[in-house]
Amino acid sequence: MSAKPSMSVNVGGIRMKNPVMVASGTFGYGPEYADLVDLNRLGAIAVKGILLEPWEGNLTPRMVEVPGGLINAIGLQNPGVAKFVEEYMPFLRRYDVPVIVNIWGRTEAEYGEVAARLDGVEGVSGLELNVSCPNVKHGGMAFGTDAGIMAGVIGLVRKRTRLPIIPKLSPNVSDIARFARVAEENGADAISLINTIPAMVIDIETRRPVLANKVGGLSGPAIHPVAVRLVWEAARAVKIPVVGMGGISSARDALEFIIAGATAVAVGTANFSNPQTSLELISGIENYLVRHGYTDVNELVGSARV
Ligand SMILES: Cc1cc2nc3c(=O)[nH]c(=O)nc-3n(C[C@H](O)[C@H](O)[C@H](O)COP(=O)(O)O)c2cc1C
Repeated sequence: MSAKPSMSVNVGGIRMKNPVMVASGTFGYGPEYADLVDLNRLGAIAVKGILLEPWEGNLTPRMVEVPGGLINAIGLQNPGVAKFVEEYMPFLRRYDVPVIVNIWGRTEAEYGEVAARLDGVEGVSGLELNVSCPNVKHGGMAFGTDAGIMAGVIGLVRKRTRLPIIPKLSPNVSDIARFARVAEENGADAISLINTIPAMVIDIETRRPVLANKVGGLSGPAIHPVAVRLVWEAARAVKIPVVGMGGISSARDALEFIIAGATAVAVGTANFSNPQTSLELISGIENYLVRHGYTDVNELVGSARV
């Protein structure tokens, strides 16, 4: 019998026992899933987005199912960084799993402040910067859709923390390779992508948008091929590791990202319908490696024959 392949990966200094993470906003802060999934088996947990201050988020309805996924407009609902550190980190520290804190800001300065407050907090392994949120100083345009503004946020966060930083790129740009390079040049240790794709549903009887926020972000299987293309383009443009996500519900979906160039992958929407998805991916990826004679998952990263 062949030996088990090595599954460990290093994402910008964050050592993971396997390449399978759970995606921000789809796994709460950990306790919500701890009875359903053995957290110690995960490669890493990206917790739901944290802001400087607590915030209730958007009005309801905030989620709508569509063929192949869902559209959400949760908004910035979160307990605030102080309460997160006090209430959730003691729980998460009990597990042997890297915790990546997803952070947002309404201004550049807010990103910097949240990053500084998480620097040195025991058990925090890295920061994922959600640059898809609206910039209140620039008419609500997302930070991540203007390369100059995104560069500024990343550069500022870089100065305020020693933790690995992983900007999470927006798919809502015309040249993802350029944004990936801007992230790398401004101090990112890795990048993750994709965040949700802006989308909308209209109730034809009332002729009103279904979501209170009118538009939201599309996630789930519908976005997977778009995400594979974007991960492939981004991974070719940079040397730093890439975390691929978007519509993963099977090991096959995850393997596509790895072959396209992702060092790790994250499961999002699928956690809602099958909380075991991430664990199933781990064994599915291992089986694939054995079947194809690989001894280390890193050999497969970016191995697409193009
Ligand atoms: C309900 C919901 C909440 C989310 N919240 C966040 C968040 O707080 N921060 C963030 O960066 N991404 C957030 N996302 C985006 C996911 O992390 C992921 O990038 C996206 O859903 C694509 O992956 P998927 O198709 O597997 O869900 C959220 C997604 C959903 C569905």
